[in-house]
Order: sequence, then C-alpha cells, then structure tokens
Amino acid sequence: MRLDKLLSNMGVGSRKDVKGLIKKKFVTVNNTVIKDSSLYVDPEKDVVKVNNEPVEFQQYVYIMLNKPSEYISATVDNREKTVIDLLPVNYNKFNPFPIGRLDKDTEGLLLLTNDGDLAHQLVSPKKDVGKTYYAKVNGYVTDDDIETFKKGITLDDGYQSKPADLVIMDSASISEVKITITEGKFHQVKRMFEAVGKKVVYLKRLSMGELQLDSNLALGESRELTKDELDYCLSLKK
Ligand code: URA
Repeated sequence: MRLDKLLSNMGVGSRKDVKGLIKKKFVTVNNTVIKDSSLYVDPEKDVVKVNNEPVEFQQYVYIMLNKPSEYISATVDNREKTVIDLLPVNYNKFNPFPIGRLDKDTEGLLLLTNDGDLAHQLVSPKKDVGKTYYAKVNGYVTDDDIETFKKGITLDDGYQSKPADLVIMDSASISEVKITITEGKFHQVKRMFEAVGKKVVYLKRLSMGELQLDSNLALGESRELTKDELDYCLSLKK
C-alpha cells in the first residue's frame, strides 16, 4: 500500500496533509526518513512513524452497537438519523456499515464493520446463524403459535419462512417472548406474528449466533468486539 494512503487511512490526515508531513521529513519507515509519498509499504512488516510515534495499521474494524429506536440501519440518509451518527468519530476513517438491518423502531445488537466478506457470511441464510430477539406482542401467545413457528409460516407475500424457535416468557394481553430465526427478511419477526394475528409492539435483538449483546452497553453505546467475539465471527468466514 502507498505510504500516503496508509497514513490517511489511519486518520493521520488528508492525503494532502500527509504529503506535507512527508515533505517536512516527519515520516520514517523502518527508521529511515522518507520523502516519497508514493513509496510502497507493507503494513504488516514495515514500521511507520510520524513525529517518532509509531502508526498502528488496522485494516478492519468490528463494532457492536446497542441500537436505540429512531435510527435507521444505513450509512447516509437525507432525512433520518443513521446508526453511523451514533459511533465515535474516530471510526469514520474505516467507513463502517451495518451488517444487515434492524428496523427504525427495533433496538439491540447491531454489528458494524468494513469487512464485506464477514457481513455477507453473517446474513447468509446458508450459514444458519440464529438471531434471537426479545419481543412484546399484543395478544396471548400460545403453544399453537410455537408449533406454527416451528413448522415455518407463510408470510403476507407468500414467502414460506424457515422454522423458528419461539419461547413464551409470559402469555398475557401483552405477551413477552424470545424468538430465534435464521433468516432476515424485511420485517420478518413482525410479519411472522402478523401471520398468526398478533402485533409486535417492541422488538430488541439479543444475539447473533454466539455473539450476545453486551449488557453493559446502554442504548446508543458501542464498542469494538473482543478477541473471542471476533474469532467467533471470523470462524463463520471459513
Ligand atoms: N424482524 C423485524 O420485524 N424487524 C427487525 O428489525 C428485525 C427482525
């Protein structure tokens, strides 16, 4: 990778700022002052310093966000607030994007990354990654609903959903349930309940595969994945 690209990708400054720093002899590669911005460096091996401070190279970022409602799962929008608005600005240089979508009014676990390959694996129905949601549902959820969801249910557009695991926590006029699905069709959980005549009034994603929403994250807070969490995610790429 070109030296100026590496430095601007790591947030040292714009391409123009970086060229200025190089010209002023502030940049060394393996302790040699470099005057050529186009020098090719190997981020894995070469030691790049600016003002004698090593620049750590990080290509990918993996962020867990506890998404609040009112934010859309997109990177830019003219009218709505996006989940990117919630991230600390130092992540901007990575151009992260959300992996899959949560509805504007859905809360909970959302991953953001700039690793397109991982994003693809986590949402691929072939990988069978279970996504578990906590939901409040208007109406008494019954054992019949459990059976119907287990068989897979036909949605309003005729789509036959894959089997889903439904656990009733409280059956009441507003029921509380946990539901695990392995696909992510548009409004899927809401439409599954609509198909049995019930309305989801609150929805929060708790986990994706082995990855659990960190209960220390308040709504709107985010953090990078731990090594174990990342290892799990990367194992899905294989
Ligand atoms: N199912 C839904 O209906 N909405 C979501 O945000 C996620 C799953």
